[in-house]
Amino acid sequence: MKRTRLIAALDTQTLDQARDWAETLDGTVDAIKLGMEFTYAQGLSAVRDLARNRTLFLDLKLHDIPNTVAKGLASLAPIGASLLTIHAAGGSAMIRAARQAIDATYPPLHRPVLLAVTVLTSLDAPSLNDIGVPSSPREQVLRLGRLAMTAGADGLVCSAEEIAPLRDALGESPTLVVPGIRPEGAAADDQKRIMTPRQAALAGADWIVVGRPITQAADPKVAAEAIQAELASA
Ligand code: C5P
Repeated sequence: MKRTRLIAALDTQTLDQARDWAETLDGTVDAIKLGMEFTYAQGLSAVRDLARNRTLFLDLKLHDIPNTVAKGLASLAPIGASLLTIHAAGGSAMIRAARQAIDATYPPLHRPVLLAVTVLTSLDAPSLNDIGVPSSPREQVLRLGRLAMTAGADGLVCSAEEIAPLRDALGESPTLVVPGIRPEGAAADDQKRIMTPRQAALAGADWIVVGRPITQAADPKVAAEAIQAELASA
């Protein structure tokens, strides 16, 4: 069976904190995730510094007209991210433009995995309704997941409970990246539908994203090692 890999979400605005976590976790986690919070606070040169000799998931969730997303992704090429995110709700043309921009601007051996975010987990059925989407979150995830893969995405960001329906609908080819993971006994924080690392691995996640259970642990390295052990036992 494939190995499910571990991404540590380094959610901070502070360079010293992010560097400290990254160095502590070197050799234990498979990748680090930086998002809007760190990138907007510290800028892309700080992101690039942290990405050096590491595998980076740069989670900026691009969503704009096709030309702007394509140019934005092209501008990100020097950062050397291994995984990047766009919003599937931007539509087929935007996703195709993203695919083309990556294929045209990134060296073939260093092409990042292009991930589409389907429905934010903060949106429930009433809030989807508010923005004119009559489907349930589950139906909308499947619709946008199918659309994104057809338009050229390599994979999807999804919650743990969406792994099985997405695998049923789309098979093994999408790379599935799954946040909302909590080791047995860890605090749920603000995450609502959580799975353990082992459950997510068994369900078929390619990567799991874990933030606070690692970064807020008394010993982040030990916490990450325990998660890796759990993944290895799945
Ligand atoms: O601290 P925690 O493990 O909850 O962090 C999870 C990470 O995954 C955070 O960076 C969060 O923004 C991100 N994420 C999420 N749920 C989603 C998408 C992204 O928790 N649906």
